[in-house]
Amino acid sequence: MTQTLKLASRVFHRIHCAPKLGTSLGSRGSNSAPKSLADIPGPSMPVFLAELFCKGGLSRLHELQVQGVARFGPVWLASFGKVRTVYVAAPALIEQLLRQEGPRPERCSFSPWTEHRRRRQLACGLLTAEGEEWQRLRSLLAPQLLRPQAAARYAGTLDDVVRDLVRRLRRQRGRGAGPPALVRDVAGEFYKFGLEGIAAVLLGSRLGCLEAEVPPDTETFIRAVGSVFVSTLLTMAMPSWLHRLVPGSWGRLCRDWDQMFAFAQQHVERREAEVALRSKGKPEVDMGSGAHLTYFLLREELPAPSILGNVTELLLAGVDTVSNTLSWALYELSRHPKVQRALHSEITAALGPGSSAHLSPTALSQLPLLKAVVKEVLRLYPVVPGNSRVPDKDIHVGDYIIPKNTLVTLCHYATSRDPAQFPEPNSFRPARWLGEGPAPHPFASLPFGFGKRSCMGRRLAELELQMALVQFQTVVTLMTTSRPEWELERASGGRSCPRRCRIV
Ligand code: HEM
Repeated sequence: MTQTLKLASRVFHRIHCAPKLGTSLGSRGSNSAPKSLADIPGPSMPVFLAELFCKGGLSRLHELQVQGVARFGPVWLASFGKVRTVYVAAPALIEQLLRQEGPRPERCSFSPWTEHRRRRQLACGLLTAEGEEWQRLRSLLAPQLLRPQAAARYAGTLDDVVRDLVRRLRRQRGRGAGPPALVRDVAGEFYKFGLEGIAAVLLGSRLGCLEAEVPPDTETFIRAVGSVFVSTLLTMAMPSWLHRLVPGSWGRLCRDWDQMFAFAQQHVERREAEVALRSKGKPEVDMGSGAHLTYFLLREELPAPSILGNVTELLLAGVDTVSNTLSWALYELSRHPKVQRALHSEITAALGPGSSAHLSPTALSQLPLLKAVVKEVLRLYPVVPGNSRVPDKDIHVGDYIIPKNTLVTLCHYATSRDPAQFPEPNSFRPARWLGEGPAPHPFASLPFGFGKRSCMGRRLAELELQMALVQFQTVVTLMTTSRPEWELERASGGRSCPRRCRIV
């Protein structure tokens, strides 16, 4: 029923909004010639640099997207030294661009992360690999992570991790100053949850991040994840020749990645030793779930450096993505008790009275409000506010021809806060995903990206988020009706999240 309503509304939206969209995007008439990069409006280089470095733009790149659309329209260009970036901030144009992708889409051709791998002679994982290497890794990993059966395989493991999280939150209540039910750093607890969850799936063993005593190396890993995004931004903002003269952020970036690689190496070696013992006929060796991803990669005889590169990058990708989203979800639910009550009813009806058993991935996928809550949180607080592509051929975007090898930034934050797509865009309204009002353009909110290069952890992340929210709604009552209980912390690059939460 909901699906039918959504479809009808989407068709209505397409029919009624198409001409308006076309006009607002300045679509070419049949006889006007396509324009070149030189015709794209945008700030001059000094204005752009001043915005980034003197007005704090580096830590609010997502807001610069909204300002950019307001000043220049849906396509603009900014130059930074020799690097020219085209910004695209209209769903129809983002769709047009992504639908012209080749077989091996490229995200960003001058990443300092790739440079780190090159200098240390390490292999890239799926996140940073390009070309044929990326394609090979993708086709190996996708069946293990993206198929619905894969999610079902990991559900039991993730359920254990979620229950440990709930136990830990209970233990953390009232520690330190403040009201008795306050968890002072709920975001920090969720980072531990993120790492524990992804490690359980990747390595088939538990790290112990949610125990009373947290292993120090896991804290180092989590700190490195937080820090690497800051140093990446600073490093990318500098031309590479400046890294030698001002080595601070480049040095920090290398240290962070070195720490993450060392952490992963230690765990991969342990798994390797177990597999070797097993193959020598010692079946009593504990392999954890035996279905873990590292075991699969070892069995596939992927070269050791490549296994290490992939495990490290997947561990990184699993930490702050899930945890920040979870923090925002609780923040919004706590400020919208009506939605929280409706969610609670939906979940308890599915579970049956008094039960705190876990719901299977199939059962979870049949809870429309739960899914809408996650979608709405990701619309408001996309983990990746601006993604990128480097086209491998000249492509048309609206009125323009974008030459191959041009860096294009997809302004997902701006489109997901666009009032033309989402009425009252700054309000948390999960009902908008349940057929309330016209459906937005399908490319207006793309939290997991799109196409061949889309997020590899999507199923895992959705499952973790849904399972955690179900447990919170059944075993713990999260009610932070008074807003000051939340402390919003701004981090670099728009990666901010609420930190404190009162749990009763
Ligand atoms: C709320 C959680 C998450 C969000 C919103 C998210 C979002 C994204 C986005 C936007 C991309 C870029 C997609 C594109 O370029 O089209 C991406 C890529 C990726 N994500 Fe996630 N992610 C999440 C969780 C995870 C988790 C838990 C993992 C770990 C398994 C993961 C692993 C990856 C990998 C490996 C890529 C690179 C894929 C490729 O280049 O082929 N993500 N993610």
